[in-house]
Amino acid sequence: MMAELVVALDFKDAKSSLAMAKSLKGAALWMKVGLELFTAEGPAVISGLKEMGFKVFLDLKFFDIPNTVQGAVRSAARLGVDMVNIHALGGERMAQAAMAGCVEGVADGVQPPLVLAVTILTSMAAGDLPVDGAPEPSEMALDLAVKAKQYGLNGVVCSGLEAERIKSACGPEFICLTPGIRPAASAGDDQRRVVTPAQAVKNGSNFLVVGRPITGAASPRDAALAIIEEMEHGV
Ligand code: C5P
Repeated sequence: MMAELVVALDFKDAKSSLAMAKSLKGAALWMKVGLELFTAEGPAVISGLKEMGFKVFLDLKFFDIPNTVQGAVRSAARLGVDMVNIHALGGERMAQAAMAGCVEGVADGVQPPLVLAVTILTSMAAGDLPVDGAPEPSEMALDLAVKAKQYGLNGVVCSGLEAERIKSACGPEFICLTPGIRPAASAGDDQRRVVTPAQAVKNGSNFLVVGRPITGAASPRDAALAIIEEMEHGV
């Protein structure tokens, strides 16, 4: 499977998000709607993106009791999103409830959204986890990815540096979606564990989430096309 680019629409309103999406039509196929945008605008922004023909990743990182997560994923599936995520730390019953919810939210015969698990947020370094004696975040991330696979989830959100180990532990079909992508010449912003688009693809990531290197560029469309070129042909 060829790796795909997902553009993070981290904007405060639907108007600027949809304008950005419009400028990327025909370049990127996937858009990511996260907490800021969804909290401000709700489902309308999802329908706007779907009407423009985009695939949508709803990045709300659900983490609650199984019944509540099942309902949340069911609602997301009803909106027609193509991918959602939950926290792997919610455990087996929560994960299985999410998988049930995603099927309940679509009509018979319709492909349900992919459900990915967040392992340990890539913003967490050793010592940041508020648990005494917690293992190294990257070791925990790998263990949680293996668990997510056992729970029947479709894949994980992980750093491009972890993708290779996760792929070899969980198998080629298990999806790795990687944020923290920075083309070699661009600014790191607040991201720390960054990889280039070519490195992420080489390490086995299936989806590359890119925000500011595209949305903050003078020409977002040219920036997206350059990243896709690097994903397909290396640097
Ligand atoms: O602008 P930038 O490329 O850093 O955007 C990365 C996107 O990926 C943001 O929307 C951020 O919320 C998201 N993300 C992340 N690290 C994670 C999970 C999600 O950067 N572990």
